[in-house]
Amino acid sequence: VIGALSSLSDTQRHRHALIVGASSRVGIALRSSLTARSWRVTGTDRRQASPTDLCLDLAHLPRLTCLPSDIDVVFLLAGVTSIAACEANPSDTDIINVQAPAEIARHYASIGVRAVMVSTNLVFDGNVENASQTAPYAPSCVYGRQKVALEQILLSLSPQCAVLRVTKIAETLAPLLMGWKAALANHQRVNAFQDLHCCPLRLADAVACLVAVAETELAGIVHCSGERDVNYLNIALRLADYLGVTSELVIGSTSHEAGVTITAPRHTRLDMTGFCDRFGFMPLDTDATLAAVFAGIP
Ligand SMILES: NC(=O)c1ccc[n+]([C@@H]2O[C@H](COP(=O)([O-])OP(=O)(O)OC[C@H]3O[C@@H](n4cnc5c(N)ncnc54)[C@H](OP(=O)(O)O)[C@@H]3O)[C@@H](O)[C@H]2O)c1
Repeated sequence: VIGALSSLSDTQRHRHALIVGASSRVGIALRSSLTARSWRVTGTDRRQASPTDLCLDLAHLPRLTCLPSDIDVVFLLAGVTSIAACEANPSDTDIINVQAPAEIARHYASIGVRAVMVSTNLVFDGNVENASQTAPYAPSCVYGRQKVALEQILLSLSPQCAVLRVTKIAETLAPLLMGWKAALANHQRVNAFQDLHCCPLRLADAVACLVAVAETELAGIVHCSGERDVNYLNIALRLADYLGVTSELVIGSTSHEAGVTITAPRHTRLDMTGFCDRFGFMPLDTDATLAAVFAGIP
């Protein structure tokens, strides 16, 4: 996906990365990609899934001297990623999503190690199409405000820190799509919101961007976006088409009609012109991204 990566010299390899949140979806894929590129990787998670990793609960941060110091870059991935959970419990999730990762970033900044965080299009309210890196913050949910807070801490901590804002990672749609697929296969109707949009991005592309940020020591705010926005009704219709079932089973509705309050920005795509120019990155088109996710649903 990113041509510039392959030209890195051998001296840039054999670096040591710390992934805080190694058991997250992004963390698992990032570890595998970094390892394949000769990085040494240490992970942390709160359940110590791997015996060589460190146990780190962001809700109860221990003394950070337990963390390795021979690190080239620390990726901050762990957190409460459910918008509803952040909305329901803003103060506890603030500890996990803002205060603890900020403390880890400060610890590493004090020994000259930079932090890279993964942020979101939800730092914007979605009223502006194709928001640029310099667009003013306008979060409309707790999760978005927490990402803004951590972004601001990192960016003020050191000019070497990086914030990678990514749009919806397409693979996270899988649980919803599995339910829809089961219903459609049984000739049952599915309801899909037409007022909920996302800009699906392949996990592999998000990880390639993270690796590029790490290996080229890119700093500041970087956008990694899917190709275009699509609403969930459209996703359901494409799934029906993919499965060869009638589109009449797919019923469009709105969150208002369903009586639910959701964070539903109209525009979620991010402008990534600068990154595309520098790395020759081309996001996979939305139809191909969705087809790849459909193909992966059991
Ligand atoms: N997925 C997306 O579409 C998307 C879009 C934009 C930005 N991001 C950001 O990208 C990063 C990775 O996302 P993801 O989708 O890979 O996340 P994920 O799969 O939801 O994983 C979140 C991780 O955080 C861990 N965690 C939660 N509470 C914790 C705590 N108190 N202490 C330590 N670890 C804790 C979870 O551990 P357990 O497994 O133990 O629960 C899990 O491993 C996140 O920062 C997210 O905000 C994701």
